[in-house]
Amino acid sequence: MKRLVALFIVALATWGNALVRFQCSQLVIERLDPLVNPGMVPSAHVHQIVGGVSASPFRSRYSYIKVWVLFLAQIDLIKRHLDLELIQRQHGPKKDMPKESTCTTCSFAEDFSNYWTAVLFFKARNGTYKRVPQSSQIQGAKGGITVYYMQDALYDQQQRSKVTAFKPVSILPLQPPIRLQPPIHYTSTNRSSQGFRMFTGNVAARTKAEMAQFRQLTYTCMDNQGTREPESLDFPSRPCNAGIMVNARFPTCWNGVNLDSPDHMAHMSYPANGTFESGGPCPASHPIRMPQVLFEVVWETRQFNNKADWPADGSQPFVWSFGDGTGYGNHADYVFGWKDDALQRLMDQPCVVNCPGANAKTQSTAAMNKCAKQKTVTEDIDGWLTSLPGM
Ligand SMILES: *[C@@H]1O[C@H](CO)[C@@H](O)[C@H](O)[C@H]1NC(C)=O
Ligand SMILES: *[C@@H]1O[C@H](CO)[C@@H](O)[C@H](O)[C@H]1NC(C)=O
Ligand SMILES: *[C@@H]1O[C@H](CO)[C@@H](O)[C@H](O)[C@H]1NC(C)=O
Repeated sequence: MKRLVALFIVALATWGNALVRFQCSQLVIERLDPLVNPGMVPSAHVHQIVGGVSASPFRSRYSYIKVWVLFLAQIDLIKRHLDLELIQRQHGPKKDMPKESTCTTCSFAEDFSNYWTAVLFFKARNGTYKRVPQSSQIQGAKGGITVYYMQDALYDQQQRSKVTAFKPVSILPLQPPIRLQPPIHYTSTNRSSQGFRMFTGNVAARTKAEMAQFRQLTYTCMDNQGTREPESLDFPSRPCNAGIMVNARFPTCWNGVNLDSPDHMAHMSYPANGTFESGGPCPASHPIRMPQVLFEVVWETRQFNNKADWPADGSQPFVWSFGDGTGYGNHADYVFGWKDDALQRLMDQPCVVNCPGANAKTQSTAAMNKCAKQKTVTEDIDGWLTSLPGM
């Protein structure tokens, strides 16, 4: 309840900077993973993705042959191109989200980012699986994710800290000489063909100790629409009358150099001591304080609350699309895609929640819902399934 109360007494508060909260409708639910398995269709497990739609968002176009041919031709212009190819080899294909996107399912019309999580399934006592639908906290929106960007703790009504917004694509000038060990040993530091991206969580985690490293990937068993506490690191053990909310908070300290890293995590860190909420300082290795991104995903578990269908031993019946029945494998992905400096401008405004005063372009819920992407993977994910798709 605390979270909602905090948001609704804004009239009394003097806001320093923005705390934004908005909905992104469902884009697709299928086996795609643009960050961890960009070229792989289908990806290992089912995800639900929201945000921007671009022409060929989730495919790699890299060609080794092209790189080696180019490498042999020692012309500076071609070297440049080669360098770009190598960066792409390391960081994935060139991708300028705002430029290449045609529409977005988010209410901020200049936010072409993609946000995604795994998908929840119910495992009935007879061993079959059924996908759990999602509901939206914003009336009329289609499922999806409620996204927050904040400068200070969610309950902090002042939001006075300054944050640096995530960065878009940057192809920095060449630093010769080009080394001869491409593509495997090439190390580009701050050059990237893609904008900022990050991942949080550990798909393989199955214990509290493993999950606790991520601190802020939690579940709320909702008794009503306003329930926000308590949060647990594993799946709720009892039926939840108003569904299960998944809360995914990303780390907030950036190294200021890489827009991505091989594990999609090393360029980000939690504060050196304390927490983002307590205003803990960023470590020297990751000195730049970024907005905290929070996803709230509401899983409509009510239709699965009949205890007769739950496991006979009384344990809880939900399982992630990658086979985790503990909940500790919870993870979330973020690919930044705000147009130009739209996010920074928004974050610098004294406003809250949907920030009507911020001059940020918004779109109607109908327009969000209309933004669509053709399904790429044709397989049944909605019937009673004998196994999880891809598992
Ligand atoms: C398994 O249980 C579910 C939930 O009770 C039911 O809807 C489904 O038809 C059952 N499937 C089989 C194969 O018995
Ligand atoms: C690239 O990173 C280096 C440190 O590795 C830094 O000194 C330099 O200023 C960065 N360049 C840009 C343009 O950000
Ligand atoms: C973090 O550590 C610094 C000194 O190392 C200290 O001054 C500060 O109070 C600590 N902050 C928190 C939130 O614990």
